Amino acid sequence: MTGHASTHALTVESLSDGLATRRIGRRIIVLPEVDSTNRYVLDVLAEGEDAAPDGTVVFAERQTAGRGRLGRSWHSPAGASLLLTVLLRPPDRLRCVASLMMAATVAVVRGIESSTDVEPTIRWPNDLYVGEGKLAGILVETRGLSGRGLAVAVGIGVNCLQHAGHFPEEIRSRATSLELASSRAVDRPAVGRAILRALDDWLAPSDGLRPEVLVEAWSQASGDIGSRATLVCDGARFTGRILDVHPEEGLLLQLDTGARKSFDPATTRRIC
Ligand code: BTN
Repeated sequence: MTGHASTHALTVESLSDGLATRRIGRRIIVLPEVDSTNRYVLDVLAEGEDAAPDGTVVFAERQTAGRGRLGRSWHSPAGASLLLTVLLRPPDRLRCVASLMMAATVAVVRGIESSTDVEPTIRWPNDLYVGEGKLAGILVETRGLSGRGLAVAVGIGVNCLQHAGHFPEEIRSRATSLELASSRAVDRPAVGRAILRALDDWLAPSDGLRPEVLVEAWSQASGDIGSRATLVCDGARFTGRILDVHPEEGLLLQLDTGARKSFDPATTRRIC
């Protein structure tokens, strides 16, 4: 799309240069175009003759049917973003997918902070914002395997090189990119490597994801605790103050009506 796209092309070499991770990125695939990297990971790489190992990462320069949360779509012009999906094969089928989602969200923040001068904040459940503009989103999807295992696709979309005119008009005032938020040129492979390293820091340790550690890191990177939110769940609208966020219990809201209620990120839409 811009000059940056050719100088900072995504290739297996540029994304694995000095990577030194334990789990994430042990195999890296770069596709020029795919419908959705999440779909590709779950339908093509999860099992069968193309089955890929745990920690495989698929990047795409363009998606023709990128998926967002709650059935929404995710648009990006070719060569403008980091569009990637990590394949995880958790050893324990019951291991909490919501924990993986929280850990991945914290990791994307840390990866962006360590490779740019941008400091995103997390907006529950797993959106990254700079000011009022959405910078990145994360979509975690799973697939039960015929051998009873579970494949988890951690899909990440980070707007990198877009300028305002690249965003569809209906989201232009609510979207941003690293290029718009940063005073420096954006090196997509460097940001990609930093995100993979941060994901590895959070997802490779064998002692698992301790809820209190996750909640602490997540809260530090989010301005949400104590702020107001309006959520839509089961067709009803709820407004109140955010009291807490937890991997298993979801978001705890002190409703304006006086009651307290927990919300599951898988079924809740946040409207402000
Ligand atoms: C959201 O904010 O709704 C989540 C957006 C997630 C988008 C990424 S882009 C790479 C991966 N492949 C997809 O189809 N979706 C995720």
